[in-house]
Amino acid sequence: MSDPTLQPLIETAIAVTEHAYIPYSHYPVGAALRATDGTIYSGCNVENAAYPATICAERTALVKAVSEGQREFDTIVVVTKNAGSPCGTCRQMLYEFAPHLRVVLADLDGNVRSDTTLADLLPDGFGPDRLPR
Ligand code: THU
Repeated sequence: MSDPTLQPLIETAIAVTEHAYIPYSHYPVGAALRATDGTIYSGCNVENAAYPATICAERTALVKAVSEGQREFDTIVVVTKNAGSPCGTCRQMLYEFAPHLRVVLADLDGNVRSDTTLADLLPDGFGPDRLPR
């Protein structure tokens, strides 16, 4: 791998899939979000019998981090069995805090399948700067 700083993120994302609550989809997702101070926040998907109430792994990690006082992030690693890409809601939530975020997608064996940016995944996103203060 060209970037050794990704390894702890990949390992964190894989490890947290252990806690994914997925009685309906059986599709574990693990996320590891790195704040600019280097702290890593993990998140898994947490499903609900009322399906739309489900929270994705990326948003779990983001909300954990923000609730701990973090607001600046540089990288997120997301792992799934088939290196699935973040959903639209997660892209939007991440864009609020980190429009220039690096987004790395890997499989459950840690193989990186995509190394892109949120700007590529959500072009012309709607951010806080659009709203008058
Ligand atoms: N899921 C995520 O955790 N992140 C995404 O960006 C896409 C979907 C979860 C939600 C649900 O638990 C399962 O994957 C199937 O949709």
